[in-house]
Amino acid sequence: MQQPPESVLILDFGAQYNQLIARRVREARVYCEVVPFDLSAKDIAERAPKALILTGGPSSVHGEGAPLPDPGIFDLGIPVLGICYGMQVMGQQLGGRVKRGDKAEYGKTTLQVTLQEPLFHELNPALVGWMSHWDEVIDLPPGFQIAARSFTTPIAAMVDLERKLYGVQFHPEVVHTPWGKDLIQNFLYEIAGCSDSWTAASFVDSALDDIKRTVGTDRVICALSGGVDSATVAALTYKAIGEQLTCVFVDHGLLRKGEREQVLEAFEDHFGVQLIVVDAKLRFLMRLAGSTDPEEKRKIIGEEFIRVFEETSKELEGKLGKFKWLAQGTVYPDVIESASTGNKAKVIKSHHNVGGLPERMDFKLLEPLRLLFKDEVRRVALELDMPPPMVYRQPFPGPGLAIRIIGEVTEERLSTLREADAIMLEEIYKAGLAREIWQYFAVLPLVRSVGVKGDERTYEDAIILRAVTSEDGMTCDFAQLPYDLLGRISNRIINEVPGVNRVAYDISSKPPATIEWE
Ligand code: XMP
Repeated sequence: MQQPPESVLILDFGAQYNQLIARRVREARVYCEVVPFDLSAKDIAERAPKALILTGGPSSVHGEGAPLPDPGIFDLGIPVLGICYGMQVMGQQLGGRVKRGDKAEYGKTTLQVTLQEPLFHELNPALVGWMSHWDEVIDLPPGFQIAARSFTTPIAAMVDLERKLYGVQFHPEVVHTPWGKDLIQNFLYEIAGCSDSWTAASFVDSALDDIKRTVGTDRVICALSGGVDSATVAALTYKAIGEQLTCVFVDHGLLRKGEREQVLEAFEDHFGVQLIVVDAKLRFLMRLAGSTDPEEKRKIIGEEFIRVFEETSKELEGKLGKFKWLAQGTVYPDVIESASTGNKAKVIKSHHNVGGLPERMDFKLLEPLRLLFKDEVRRVALELDMPPPMVYRQPFPGPGLAIRIIGEVTEERLSTLREADAIMLEEIYKAGLAREIWQYFAVLPLVRSVGVKGDERTYEDAIILRAVTSEDGMTCDFAQLPYDLLGRISNRIINEVPGVNRVAYDISSKPPATIEWE
């Protein structure tokens, strides 16, 4: 994508919170990108950002191999905000002194603002902020003055007004610093002169131009999952190049109730997109037969998906000509995670989605959403006039219901889970909670229990309900659903779904649990 006229670059020193900084900047409707900490001053100058933000990070400036930016970045005349480690790096490189902490300061701290303007513009001079650090700047670099202090950290914020260099020891990006977003906006608007012009409409305009220019007259194929990301890619690409786009929807039989019909309705009827539906239910069920291990199930589904997709695209190419491009719904958190300087996370689960197709496939990738966060994707989807139920759809994993059925996946077990899940979805929707809960679904464990229906003893399946609140799926809390709602869902499932006599609610958070059961 072409860089919008106004942008901010975030130099990533491996902070846990780097995505949050990007989110806060985007929330201020300013376009930003997270880039490696060692991007050269020359490269930065060429990209002409309105401002730079240096993130925090786990290192110490005194540590061996500590990540350091090109010192030339401070001479570019571009305003810089250093956060925590970012401030320490700035302090050290510009001639101040950083003390290696012998104990960490962690948690809420009261700050006293000593220089209000412009960083603390219109903020209360006594503020509670969130600290998490070992080291701290103890001698200011030449040209700097103190802008805030705390009882334990005499230099909690430092500024060089002339060179527009700012450092804060606390974390303005986290929710525990409630006024932090105002401080970030002061930096963006008052200091860097950014405007709030990064909107869904401006994104759509430039993305349409980009797609047209990139693709030219080539053919594009897009694997639709029904989730909001791939749906938005399809809608956007269709708007840009119309009939040059062909969408493929693989029905692997692991979908929720009515899902296939909803996708068809939205795409064929609403948008008129050319959509090929591949019915691969039997194939998947046969491959899954006898598999009970979660990782094995995930791998089978991932591989089979690729095989079906490859076969279908080959067949279509025979009729329509070569597809040069594969459009997929990669979003920014995926990009940041795979490119960040921090350690690669251990594989907890082998994720599969339509965005996980292998590179060895003979396509070039078209990823128009790769710089957007999920909520931004939703705004773009609304801008494209996509139906709200599709826009606000909860995330649904590529392997579908197979990872919500513990043990073997069979037709009968799929049908039990699908019915129970549909009841949960309907009741949460009716209770008006659909948008505030990140995900809510039913799980079929390998548990049977004794019950009594009428005068008869039963020995039937249990259903687990799972509902979680989350910002991004990386962590979650179980949703505190009202008891009467839980009661209604439970009653309906036990009465309406054959073979179920018990319902339980999963009250675990992530970590240590995960959102999905497998
Ligand atoms: P976990 O279970 O790891 O899930 O806490 C975090 C988020 O990722 C979704 N998820 C997947 N999404 N393919 C996907 O596209 C997958 O294989 C997959 N596995 C989990 C999950 O629904 C939650 O939103």
